[in-house]
Amino acid sequence: MEKIKVSAPGKIILFGEHAVVYGESAVAVAINKRLKMSAAIGESNSVNGYPLSKRHHSYIYTGINTFQLENNIEFTLKTNIPSAAGMGSSAAISVCTTLLLDTLKKQNMGTTTESFKDILKMPTLHEKRREMEGEIANGAFDNEYLTQGGASPLDTSVVTHGSGVVLRKEPGQNHLWKAHREDKTWHIHHMEIPDLSLVLGNTGIRGRTSEQVAKVGRFVKKRNFGREIISEIGELVEEGIRAVESNDIVKIGELMDENHKLLSILGISHPKLEKTIGAVRRHSLGAKLTGAGGGGSFIAITDTPEKAIRALERFNINVFELKLSKNGVLIE
Ligand code: MEV
Repeated sequence: MEKIKVSAPGKIILFGEHAVVYGESAVAVAINKRLKMSAAIGESNSVNGYPLSKRHHSYIYTGINTFQLENNIEFTLKTNIPSAAGMGSSAAISVCTTLLLDTLKKQNMGTTTESFKDILKMPTLHEKRREMEGEIANGAFDNEYLTQGGASPLDTSVVTHGSGVVLRKEPGQNHLWKAHREDKTWHIHHMEIPDLSLVLGNTGIRGRTSEQVAKVGRFVKKRNFGREIISEIGELVEEGIRAVESNDIVKIGELMDENHKLLSILGISHPKLEKTIGAVRRHSLGAKLTGAGGGGSFIAITDTPEKAIRALERFNINVFELKLSKNGVLIE
């Protein structure tokens, strides 16, 4: 049996991380950094030649246990998405693992998989593509949820679909699919790539999503106003969606600053994030941490990207102009 090759993008969150875990709205966009993964039936379960380990390959390990294939699988994995940096590396692994194992399972059952490749290249809102992406994204969401012990479908949805996605409690225009967990339902919608000039700074401090989600959980449980902050972020995101739709970059910037303040109150910023965001703000319309926080990355919206990048030179961190991408998960 042949090797199956897939790839998926990283992502950034424009508005709404953490609050989305509680069912609030959020906006995320795919970026032009990608993870490439392949799978083939082999002698034993392995990743890049090493035996599969629960500790080192947690998302693949969960996938193998969920799909329960008859054969052992040899995976290879190559990526330029930095890990634990808020850029969607775990979501890309969950999505690629789900697509690979699902395809192998269907092949084992005798279903031809050739057309899956074409379905993922169909127009954005084509029913067949939406259906297939919804299946992959929901499988990958289950994987992230099990592996991390808590998550929203935001990262796995945008990494599957590409372009931008908006998550809301109610379905609206450009609806793609929905996801459920306990008493929460998220409706996932397509969003065109916004025309924004963004700079990303990666502090290099690893922020593990599971730890940051648990930290916010403790905060919300302990403090009466924790839940209010979550709702406030949800309201801000709705304003953010309107600002993105009307390409009001001044408003987007203001809301990014506001979103960052609320995330800091939840306790997931980091001194290095505060210092670097402080420095980049002088050359930006707004800036915020992106992703789980506790380190990781920030994004800044700016009409002078060179100046913003120069202002960050002295911090010796990885900074670049972000390129967004309409490509989601693909079979190569
Ligand atoms: C992490 O990229 C985004 C969080 O909101 C977690 C999640 O939505 O699963 C912090």
